Amino acid sequence: MRKNIVAGNWKMNKTLQEGVALAKELKDALSGAKPNCEVVIAPPFIHLASVAEAVKGSVVKVAAQNCSDKESGAYTGEVSPAMVVSTGASHVILGHSERRSYYGETNAVVKAKVDAAIGNGLNPIVCVGEVLEERENGKFFDVVSAQVKESLFHLDASAFGKVVIAYEPVWAIGTGKTATAEQAQEMHAFIRNLIAEKYGSEVAENTSILYGGSCKPSNAKELFANKDVDGGLIGGASLKAADFMGIITAF
Ligand code: PGA
Repeated sequence: MRKNIVAGNWKMNKTLQEGVALAKELKDALSGAKPNCEVVIAPPFIHLASVAEAVKGSVVKVAAQNCSDKESGAYTGEVSPAMVVSTGASHVILGHSERRSYYGETNAVVKAKVDAAIGNGLNPIVCVGEVLEERENGKFFDVVSAQVKESLFHLDASAFGKVVIAYEPVWAIGTGKTATAEQAQEMHAFIRNLIAEKYGSEVAENTSILYGGSCKPSNAKELFANKDVDGGLIGGASLKAADFMGIITAF
């Protein structure tokens, strides 16, 4: 059976000290608790090792927010998947809409990063989602279908089994505008159906598909109650332990 997952994407927030403090606060809040979901936090690269150390012995797993598609060498400023693994992280967010729009990451780039991540034993959390114009002109299924197919469908079934998908309508990210539970469920079911067509229904049923975009304690329950919504990728509301806990306990 697929896992429910609540993942926090800290983006470019928190100094190292603030990040470690938040990780510890979360560890304390979860101590003795048995959350009904996997909990992942994605701090900036330079926090990874310290945050992984801070949450050691707890249920919290650590993710990078990006990684290189290259293994090593003369790529100034880049961080390889093996380096991410060496910090204690187990996951990596790939293809976030901010990477796509500000740093020009195409589906082909995301595909190469997915391969590098899986090749190094990381679980990629691959983000897909349409922009507002594509929602309004009815192209959203086509856009998401192309993102899923072009960045993931070259994988064999066993490699695909490592992938978590996050549906994040770009118009809902950081805007306070959440997709309705119906819009989320409709897209999640569509994605699961694409996976079933390609890999069969067992693989599709085992794939966790998260929703992201202004998910918060007040709307998490309604979103997560949908059959095909297996958790959330949380930005703003992951920056405060109490808010993040409010989403974790929505399961
Ligand atoms: P948000 O961000 O929760 O702040 O909308 C979500 C994301 O970008 O992953």
